[in-house]
Amino acid sequence: MCNHRWFLLGLLVCFASVTTADEYHARLLVPRSVKSARATEEQTTEYWIDKAQSILADKLEQSSRLNTNRAKNIILFLGDGMSVHTITATRAFLGDSSEQVSFEQFPYTGLSKTYSVNKLVPDSACTSTAYLSGVKANYGTIGVTAQVPKNDCEAGIDNRTHTESIAKWAQDAGKWAGLVTTARVTHASPAGVYAHTANRDWETDSKIKSSGCVSGTEQNVDIASQLVEWPVGKNLRVIMGGGRRNFIDEEELDEEGIEGKRSDGRNLTAEWLADKYEQGASAAYVWNKDGLLNVNLDKTEYLLGLFSSSHCPYHGDLEREGLTETVPSLSEMTEAAIQLLNNNDKGYFLFVEGARIDMAHHSTRAHRSIEDTAEFARAVELARKMTNEEDTLIVVTSDHSHTMTINGYPTRGSDIFGLAPMTADDNLPYTVLSYANGPGFSKTYSTKKGRRDLSDADLDDPKYRYMATVPLDSETHGGDDVGVFASGPYAHYFSGNYEQTNIPALMAYAADIGPFAKSALAAKDVKATKNFSGANKIMEPSKE
Ligand SMILES: *[C@@H]1O[C@H](CO)[C@@H](O)[C@H](O)[C@H]1NC(C)=O
Ligand SMILES: *[C@@H]1O[C@H](CO)[C@@H](O)[C@H](O)[C@H]1NC(C)=O
Ligand SMILES: *[C@@H]1O[C@H](CO)[C@@H](O)[C@H](O)[C@H]1NC(C)=O
Ligand SMILES: [Zn+2]
Repeated sequence: MCNHRWFLLGLLVCFASVTTADEYHARLLVPRSVKSARATEEQTTEYWIDKAQSILADKLEQSSRLNTNRAKNIILFLGDGMSVHTITATRAFLGDSSEQVSFEQFPYTGLSKTYSVNKLVPDSACTSTAYLSGVKANYGTIGVTAQVPKNDCEAGIDNRTHTESIAKWAQDAGKWAGLVTTARVTHASPAGVYAHTANRDWETDSKIKSSGCVSGTEQNVDIASQLVEWPVGKNLRVIMGGGRRNFIDEEELDEEGIEGKRSDGRNLTAEWLADKYEQGASAAYVWNKDGLLNVNLDKTEYLLGLFSSSHCPYHGDLEREGLTETVPSLSEMTEAAIQLLNNNDKGYFLFVEGARIDMAHHSTRAHRSIEDTAEFARAVELARKMTNEEDTLIVVTSDHSHTMTINGYPTRGSDIFGLAPMTADDNLPYTVLSYANGPGFSKTYSTKKGRRDLSDADLDDPKYRYMATVPLDSETHGGDDVGVFASGPYAHYFSGNYEQTNIPALMAYAADIGPFAKSALAAKDVKATKNFSGANKIMEPSKE
């Protein structure tokens, strides 16, 4: 019998062969890897009061000297599909302390509303337009206004519908711009930096043709070509991620013997290099980690790194599949990018995407998603160490949420990938992490037997598909707001709950560039629209 449900953590030895149905509907399961934790100190009042007092001291210190320096550098970290649940689960994965996910320690936090013009739950394409250009648009489109419906062959060509990204504002101000992603560099999120298209899938000319829109100079230009030919893409100083296949023809093989996806016979990598050499610039194309390590980052003006035919591997798989010497991690790419961009006296804008947090969620493989989030947090930590908060604004956010929840009253310190401590009303166990929909459905229900017994589920397998209520080939995004974490100049402006489109506006204001430069605001005579109540307004010192 398991009457002593509140035994000291770590001493749970109640094996659940008998169900105390009268008291609880559920059986008590033995939690995996219970850590004895800081249970003792957490039992005292002092611990919590001391903790809160030190937070207050930090707040007082912060509000006495708001950072209103001009941001020389801006780094936008985008955890694709990194919902608040994902961050919390990653914290538990990293050790269940309140200070494990690096950017949770940033001084200012806000919430971003991610809906698009036509969908309450958006995708990574229209949201990239929002958080990079400051304009909400239609699902599936990139770098164009909502006048362009997804897939419209005509509307997206009209450059009056094209939006400008913060990378352009930065370039116009003499800053360098770059992007780093674990997805193909032509995938939806990074494409928001430089591309304009009615369909996120038009990464190559062949995709435009197969969708019925003719590709050509006067027609729709594929995303990879835009990256190499159009002004913003062409001027990017750093482009790192996956996606070699979109740079070469389907008849050709890349460095690893994998065929390309283009049908126009072009080698965009060669064209990219030729363009830089023509300008007399020092440029490097690399396709593996060795290549990257051999680049002299202090002497290189343009760097293109394509480390995979399609997306880069999941972070956890780098080690499991012995790829750590072949493919650079997100942190390693980030480090190289910052080092190169640092060579510009006027500063830089860098976009860094942890792209596969989202893809793992789509397959309800929570374990992989959380490993990728942990690596994303490491990349943020590294960037913060390499830069100075006096002149560098770092913003960490996500494009949209996912449907994963943390549920079932898991015991503190128990394995986040494990089972909830009690069985459900059907006497079967269930996992702490589960999804509203997705391919995990087949692991959850059997057509003949109903809900499956997960007692022997291999929850140590990083490819394990977590439970899902509704059958779907690919789990959907979620519609809840996502977090925004900021550090550096004007980081305090990032608190509150606001449109996702405010993010580039606030970043540009801090850097004094684009339509949100102080001069641009003054020229339009932009004034406050709200009177905030409260006598004790914080007056900001206006220093440059
Ligand atoms: C838009 O395209 C037209 C025709 O190609 C060109 O003349 C014009 O300069 C472009 N405008 C912008 C803002 O790029
Ligand atoms: C494409 O161009 C790059 C850079 O010149 C070269 O390294 C690569 O081998 C070329 N790929 C193919 C398939 O021709
Ligand atoms: C804010 O308050 C001032 C002074 O009371 C008033 O003149 C102004 O019209 C108000 N602005 C708005 C937007 O309500
Ligand atoms: Zn997605």
